[in-house]
Amino acid sequence: MTIPSTLYIGLMSGTSMDGVDGMLADFAGNAIVSLAAAFVPFPPALRAALMGLQSWGENEIEREAIAANDLAACYAECVEALLPAAPGPIRAIAVHGQTIRHRPDLGFTRQTNNPALLAELTGIDVIADFRSRDIAARGQGAPLVPAFHMAQFGQPGRTRAVVNIGGIANISVLHADGRVGGFDTGPGNVLMDGWIARHLGRDYDADGAWAASGTLNHGLLEALLDEPYFTMPAPKSTGRDLFHMDWLDLRLKGSPALPPADVQATLTELTALTIARAIHAEAAQVDAVYVCGGGAYNGTLLRALAAALGGKTIVESTAVLGVAPNRVEALAFAWLGYRFNLREAGNLPAVTGAQGPRVLGALYPA
Ligand SMILES: Nc1ncnc2c1ncn2[C@@H]1O[C@H](COP(=O)(O)OP(=O)(O)O)[C@@H](O)[C@H]1O
Ligand SMILES: [Mg+2]
Repeated sequence: MTIPSTLYIGLMSGTSMDGVDGMLADFAGNAIVSLAAAFVPFPPALRAALMGLQSWGENEIEREAIAANDLAACYAECVEALLPAAPGPIRAIAVHGQTIRHRPDLGFTRQTNNPALLAELTGIDVIADFRSRDIAARGQGAPLVPAFHMAQFGQPGRTRAVVNIGGIANISVLHADGRVGGFDTGPGNVLMDGWIARHLGRDYDADGAWAASGTLNHGLLEALLDEPYFTMPAPKSTGRDLFHMDWLDLRLKGSPALPPADVQATLTELTALTIARAIHAEAAQVDAVYVCGGGAYNGTLLRALAAALGGKTIVESTAVLGVAPNRVEALAFAWLGYRFNLREAGNLPAVTGAQGPRVLGALYPA
């Protein structure tokens, strides 16, 4: 049975593995109207299980399947939190899943999930696995949000950059003539989160206060910037497969006994500088930069980004354009679900490198 509804729920859980962001939105008449937001943090055991699936380990298949079931329960909880705000039946849930491997170079990406269980728990159509089709068409499978960024934030005649700073950071450059460029720039919060967890036992560096107490170390910054990924031409995408704590530890060997706060300051600068360089590689000049994702709540990082852009470019959160930074990516997935039901493409071949536009996702009917 097809529900004549334009209400969608988008669910996003990214590389930070902090939890699931959900958005309820209405796309009636092709407009994008946000109706409600919800966040469900991952229970510590689920987070640990997902972390344990990020690299090779014993009994992976069974551990993945069990984590996928627990994840689906978490997704269902987020849906439950949104339903009271729905003015009618939900057309579909669009769910990203949790990335446990991202290897477009080997022809696959894996977002673990149990969409069948989510359909069973909610009684709502579920659209899942958005990245595989783009990779099958020889694309990177990422980033998938630039088309939405253009639909939501693009303004003809203006060149805008939208920066999503999650665990990994990605940019969308919305050119004045309607072209869209974009790619993953490298680490967003993932290394900063890992470093503060190791030294202070916190999940993240709130507002970048710890980083602000440290001093940038140029030797370490150079060692970090030596990573070939940063100068690789687009299309490109990355994940925890490359940027993990072993990656950092290897590069810290040349800077022994640095105060931990100095390392945090340097990691913050690394994120800011690689984003700024990526924006300039895509457009010599941009009118403004809008930041979303959890990194938008890191004041030290935003100041570093503004400085790395030369100090004259406007750097704001997407809130000034009407969407709170922590809501953008879940809203993007709701929109990708809407595109799936229209059988319209969700990818931008100029961004992912795919052989053409493709309808993204797979349907699990209610
Ligand atoms: N108040 C804050 N100050 C600094 N960083 C924050 C704050 N709130 C969230 N973050 C960062 O944002 C991350 C979550 O961002 P999110 O957009 O959900 O990323 P992902 O899509 O990878 O899950 C956290 O892990 C943390 O690093
Ligand atoms: Mg998150």
